[in-house]
Amino acid sequence: MAENSALLKYFPTELPADVAPGLPSQQRRYLIDGRIEEWKGPMIEVYSPVCVQKDNSVEPVYLGSAPAMDEETAMRALDAAVRAWDRGNGLWPRLSAEQRIQAVHAFTKRMEERREEIVRWIVFEIGKPRSEAEKEFDRTTEYIRDTLNAVKEGARSTARFTVEQGILAQIRRAPLGVVLCMGPFNYPLNETFATFIPALVMGNTVLFKPPKNGILLYGPLLEAMAECFPPGVVNTVYGDGPVVIPPVMRSGKVDVLAFIGSSRVADQLKKEHPHPHKLRAILGMGAKNAAILLPDVKIESVIDECLRGALSYNGQRCTALKIFFVPRDKGEQFVEAFREKMASLSVGMPYLDGVQITPLPIEGKSQYLQGLVEDAVSQGAVAYGGGYLGPLFLPAILYPVKKGMKAYEEEQFGPVVPVVPYDDPEEALDWIVESHYGQQASLFGEDPAQVAHFVDELVHQVCRVNLNSQCQRGPDVFPFTGRKGSAEGTLSVSDALRAFSIRTLVAAKENDANRALLRKITEERLSSFISTDFLF
Ligand code: G3H
Repeated sequence: MAENSALLKYFPTELPADVAPGLPSQQRRYLIDGRIEEWKGPMIEVYSPVCVQKDNSVEPVYLGSAPAMDEETAMRALDAAVRAWDRGNGLWPRLSAEQRIQAVHAFTKRMEERREEIVRWIVFEIGKPRSEAEKEFDRTTEYIRDTLNAVKEGARSTARFTVEQGILAQIRRAPLGVVLCMGPFNYPLNETFATFIPALVMGNTVLFKPPKNGILLYGPLLEAMAECFPPGVVNTVYGDGPVVIPPVMRSGKVDVLAFIGSSRVADQLKKEHPHPHKLRAILGMGAKNAAILLPDVKIESVIDECLRGALSYNGQRCTALKIFFVPRDKGEQFVEAFREKMASLSVGMPYLDGVQITPLPIEGKSQYLQGLVEDAVSQGAVAYGGGYLGPLFLPAILYPVKKGMKAYEEEQFGPVVPVVPYDDPEEALDWIVESHYGQQASLFGEDPAQVAHFVDELVHQVCRVNLNSQCQRGPDVFPFTGRKGSAEGTLSVSDALRAFSIRTLVAAKENDANRALLRKITEERLSSFISTDFLF
């Protein structure tokens, strides 16, 4: 388990002056009930996966700190969200779709003004290469714009009455109440906002907990959150998840849990809620997406896509290809080609241009990955590549991997690539059927009959089958979900709006009295639900 001091060369002796956000940043501020308050209690210290050389080893860059809130403050944040919801009578849930759209639009403009700062925090807090951090930011603002357009379309299509079997009805989507949003470290902005924005724009009030790695990037957004939304509509909860979140769930006041992270934590949080049928859960959880290289695969044509699928952002994507099934007679050829490509990946600090392999933000991750490699090697696999120093782990490919090895079962969420040789491609299918996960799969091959056969099998095991392409979430208008332990609910621009609302109708027997009643209500704009206002 020894560290490799030869990797010292990838770390700077000191941090270049112009690449980091203002460091260190002691962020004591948090948002509750429309007010930005100063935290006087203990703080969580935040370190970067970016390290500098020190005494022949490496030392993480100190980024700053954020409030280690206590239970009482978390409950205050919850109560503010409950008050702002006010059984659906709060200002925000009662606003028209158009007014809410304007508020989110104003917030997005303010967010764009802080792009550079937020991108730098993403780079330094989670070690994401700068170009990918920029993409994460831009994809998020584009997602917000698409979401606002989808809300407009939805509002237009429901701005009318329908008549069916003598019943007049207006059917609209109503918000659900108080939403707890928790995003993951690997997309700390994008995947948090992928639930936060739809929840908000549909009229819910939100309690918002940033991930532990990816917390300081929210500092630049606090004022905009406070100023663009009415008090209590957005409230931040910082601190140790196991301290602040269970009491919030136990209160029974959370109506929707939007969580992207591990299934273990998701299960614990759901169990804390006293009324399981009141709670809606929108969950994005683990995945171990398989790539099946079919017998006719041409290794040279697919190798680049396989590499991207396995190692983009060091394999720290829920959609990463985390196990490869390869025909036995092409196993060596695949490994050789993969090794060659892997060796050409550029390693270094995430603020440098063109880097692809960067240090990992989760504490102890290198040791865990090294354990996977050693376990596989002890059972007969050969490891090509690998080695680590501090949080930097060089990619490793393991071959031949078989049942019983940890790398065969566990979601590595890092740059270790297990390759399983098969005699019959049905073996890959059996692995997928037995897996606890069911997010996506990639099929590589050209024979139409064989591809069609595997597609027809796989669509009953996973929720997206990618042909000669890596697994991925985007485009964000496509449904993103999973079976088994991979997801609950579906996210996409339009699906997310459905997830955070419920179809609700007002219905009346069609007669003169009811028609007159409804006409009066709409003409005089007496109701925020019954309305035929058209959204331009
Ligand atoms: O971590 C899981 C993400 O949803 C993956 O998104 O496929 O766009 O990298 P991506």
